[in-house]
Amino acid sequence: MAPVITCIDDLKQLYKKRTPRMFYDYCESGSYTEQTFRDNSSDFAQIRLRQRVARDLTGRSTEVTMLGNPVAMPVALSPVGSTGMQWPDGEILAARAAAAFGVPFTLSTMSICSIEDVAAHSPTPFWFQLYVMKDEDFVDAAIERARAAKCSALVLTLDLQILGQRHKDLKNGLTSPPRLTLPNIINMATKPAWSTAMLKTPRRQFRNIVGHVKGVTDLADLTRWANEQFDPQLDWGKVKRIRDQWGGKLILKGILDADDARMAADVGADAMIVSNHGGRQLDGALSSIRVLPSIVKAVGDQTEIYMDSGIRSGQDVLKALALGAKSTFIGRSFIYGLGAAGQAGVTKALEVIHKELDISMALCGVQKARDISREHVLVPKDFE
Ligand code: FNR
Repeated sequence: MAPVITCIDDLKQLYKKRTPRMFYDYCESGSYTEQTFRDNSSDFAQIRLRQRVARDLTGRSTEVTMLGNPVAMPVALSPVGSTGMQWPDGEILAARAAAAFGVPFTLSTMSICSIEDVAAHSPTPFWFQLYVMKDEDFVDAAIERARAAKCSALVLTLDLQILGQRHKDLKNGLTSPPRLTLPNIINMATKPAWSTAMLKTPRRQFRNIVGHVKGVTDLADLTRWANEQFDPQLDWGKVKRIRDQWGGKLILKGILDADDARMAADVGADAMIVSNHGGRQLDGALSSIRVLPSIVKAVGDQTEIYMDSGIRSGQDVLKALALGAKSTFIGRSFIYGLGAAGQAGVTKALEVIHKELDISMALCGVQKARDISREHVLVPKDFE
């Protein structure tokens, strides 16, 4: 009998059963002690929703706008590296699920399927996430490729000039695709459905990079290149140059401090994502939801403010909007769905969150997602 999926955690359990350990761990880990990773969830739990009764519940709508365009609900898919290792062609499938649902999909620089692969299969324009690499030719070409693919926004990630360490990835010897070592072969043999499906897929390399960077033709070249490429010299001057070069809608990702938010607004970002990278970078940093109100206060009248890190339910989305986010992003929540059941699993994750949001809005007595405000939540005194 097919398992009954009622919540994001059900998808996570299925994903865990189906996926080789190294890719599950890659997704489910935070950096170092994982304090920030844990806080992303536990801080949401401290915020409570304010129940209201005897309110007209008809005419509810979860629709909001992002960058001026209507979206079915205040949720977009975060860029997630190696998504195509969680399920063959994962980026294409997630992009299709997002398009059918009416929410934005963001393709990572470190994706398995390339910008061109996704553009060929996605029915709607998607957003492209750029990591600033030392190799300026690569960055320039990536911007032009995103433009040629008609990506409708560039998401520039600022919180990964250097990699936070995730212990499990080192212990598992993580690479995409996996090196054929004995432990990896045993690991994959325990997940035959995944291994068989993956072997049938030609797209198993980082296709935004392999074939686009001189001298990078195999896994060894790629690993060497990627490890030394994140640009330690990235500064606001470079951000401005990329803004001018791109010329389209720009979203700055990884803002976690009101002073940085002011800089981001000053360079003319159309939006910013309050994010700690899902607890994968600075361990010990505050959760995104805790920082969000200070950033809304600092620059909320100048740019759109989105948030991610820790969203696992529609109730979490409601809380983020109540604290001032215009919309949210989900990373792991859609990866759990993808790893559990491919495109249908991503759709399921979106349906689950949508239904939870709709019902929670109703029980809070609010009809339109765009009207969610601070009056709909109760926040502990020490929270901000
Ligand atoms: C990420 N994230 C990420 N961010 C980014 O800008 N580029 C990337 O390539 C990746 N890769 C990546 C891989 C994996 C496995 C995860 C879990 C996350 C961060 C991501 O965009 C987002 O900020 C977080 O996932 C949000 O937190 P939640 O929703 O996963 O709790």
